[in-house]
Amino acid sequence: MDPSFSTLIRTASHEQHTEAETSTFMSDLLGGGLGVDAYARYTEQLWFVYAALEEGIERLADDPVAGPFVRPELLRLPELERDLTHLRGPGWRETVSALPATAVYAARIRECARTWPAGYVAHHYTRYLGDLSGGQIIRDKAERTWGFPRKGDGVRFYVFERVGNPAAFKREYRGLLDAIGVDELEKQRVVAECKVAFALNTGVFRALGEEFPAVAA
Ligand code: HEM
Repeated sequence: MDPSFSTLIRTASHEQHTEAETSTFMSDLLGGGLGVDAYARYTEQLWFVYAALEEGIERLADDPVAGPFVRPELLRLPELERDLTHLRGPGWRETVSALPATAVYAARIRECARTWPAGYVAHHYTRYLGDLSGGQIIRDKAERTWGFPRKGDGVRFYVFERVGNPAAFKREYRGLLDAIGVDELEKQRVVAECKVAFALNTGVFRALGEEFPAVAA
């Protein structure tokens, strides 16, 4: 029997997941080798990514393919803005800047959001399902490393207040992927776009790694 679409998309991106997870920047960040400034810079990049994911969301909510994935409990932009106020101060908007790799990533999301709803789903999956999973590991490390209050300012991005049961939510999300209203060829294109999304994330990590080399132990 053919694997379900959710299994296909997960399996297809497995290798790149490992690459993202074990990137130098992520390893250094989670290994405690970087200062809070690197974490703040990373959070800034996430703000540009989620602005691209969430700006056109009302229009996508009515789309037959992307619409079912648009869930208000996932929205991260307000949380990122609270975190940035904490990390950079109330004037953070005046100094925030996208790395070139982040600008490329955000532009690709916007292009999909505008012209290709199924491609947007690939980007949606890559970020939100990841945040609900590995994001919790990152939050835990960040709280311990830089002393943020548990689930408080600084790590609110990782806290989905309105998702009561993340495991159940992810199951439901995979059900939505399996029920996506596109043909087989389009599914292959979505899988390919998912790989693009992972590569774009890895590109941001690479750029951050260059900006923040770990302090030798
Ligand atoms: C250090 C960083 C990371 C850690 C520790 C991590 C860890 C994990 C873990 C443990 C899961 C499994 C959850 C489950 O089986 O339900 C997972 C799933 C996932 N992660 Fe990550 N992850 C990291 C980085 C990333 C990045 C950078 C992305 C992409 C932007 C990503 C995207 C995903 C996605 C899409 C899933 C869901 C897979 C599926 O069930 O279909 N992760 N992650």
